[in-house]
Amino acid sequence: MLVLGIESSCDETAAAVVANGEQILSNVVASQVAMHAKYGGVVPELASREHLRKIEPVVNEACARAGLNISQVDGIAVTEGPGLIGSLLVGLVYGKALAHALAKPLVGVNHLEGHIHAVLLESKMDLQAGKVAEEAQLPAVVLVVSGGHTSLFLVEAVSPSAHSPSAAFNYRRLGQTRDDAAGEAFDKVARLLALGYPGGPLIDQLARWGNAEAVDFGRIRMKGNPLDFSFSGVKTAVLYRVRGTPLALEAEERRAWRTTRDNVSIDELRARCSHATLDLIASFQNAVVHNLVERTLAAAEAAHVDSVFVSGGVACNSLLRARMLEASRAQGIRALFPSPGLCTDNAAMIASAGYYKLQAGQLADASLTAHAAFPLGEKQDSGSRIQDSGDKQGSGFRIQHSGKPA
Ligand code: KG4
Ligand code: ZN
Repeated sequence: MLVLGIESSCDETAAAVVANGEQILSNVVASQVAMHAKYGGVVPELASREHLRKIEPVVNEACARAGLNISQVDGIAVTEGPGLIGSLLVGLVYGKALAHALAKPLVGVNHLEGHIHAVLLESKMDLQAGKVAEEAQLPAVVLVVSGGHTSLFLVEAVSPSAHSPSAAFNYRRLGQTRDDAAGEAFDKVARLLALGYPGGPLIDQLARWGNAEAVDFGRIRMKGNPLDFSFSGVKTAVLYRVRGTPLALEAEERRAWRTTRDNVSIDELRARCSHATLDLIASFQNAVVHNLVERTLAAAEAAHVDSVFVSGGVACNSLLRARMLEASRAQGIRALFPSPGLCTDNAAMIASAGYYKLQAGQLADASLTAHAAFPLGEKQDSGSRIQDSGDKQGSGFRIQHSGKPA
């Protein structure tokens, strides 16, 4: 079954063709990063206009690279939310019109579901290529961590039942950020320090030159759900360390210098960062990564799963990958990340998630529309599913699975 995936929830116009949910035939991403960089973040109106310009060439390119005529696809999967409404609408309406014109089945996919499927997709491809001995296993705790989201899910494969005759996967949200997403915090700190946009990859590289222990941001503690996240505190702590100090002057000098340059190499940027700035960057990244790893592994322990998946743009972060692998191994847990091209926004993950929905007959009709807010998985309610385990050594709560995975 050949599925054409279309993704346009933020600032990448993407289309891909995936066979049987597990083999990428093409994966085209037109990034708008360069356009938004001069504003230091995504400008929604510019994003939707650029999607309008790119959607048709990108879809055509995806079909051409897959060696297909568009009429040969068996179904179309589009991102229906969450995201920027104007951006989402472009891809969704285009996919809907294509499905109607070609008389092909259409499915709507949650963007977060797509990020989760990126891990399963990559693992199937790795297995086929003989790179790994076994496929990713469900149930798993999945951390989706990007510029727009930081959420933990318990993901289970489910057999069709009388209760849910067509479900293939069950997603249960265990926690989420109460303020900034982790990627958003990376981007805002990078903007404060005039490093460039998007900030995550720049901070990732610059942090290697700083001392991650130089600034102690303390532990991020949460009242209520211990699997929720909060990054605005550490972001504001960085602001207070910069404001009114020589670091602020240094950042302004960097900002002025950056406006005179189109392309800046990481070495040039590093040469314009003092040791104190590099230490602050490394310590900030260390605090965020520590928190992500700690919460994810606490969720895995509470849910009694032995797999964790990490996906979304921040899953490209080298420290997060190294720390998560190290800490999960110590806990006897397998940690899986997609390769960087599948971590960031792409349409192969949408096509792959859409394949299972097509298989399960979860088809969309003409009423399919875009949703800026579009939660995946019901919120974990503390009464029924998280119970005090009395385990004083562990995380102090336990998550029950809904049933045996298929
Ligand atoms: O998944 P994505 O492409 O788009 C959203 O759905 O948000 O993620 C983009 C985010 C940006 O905030 C970017 O700074 C962050 O992912 N990012 C990183 C790295 N690469 C991308 N953050 C930290 N380290 C990285 N290496
Ligand atoms: Zn995303």
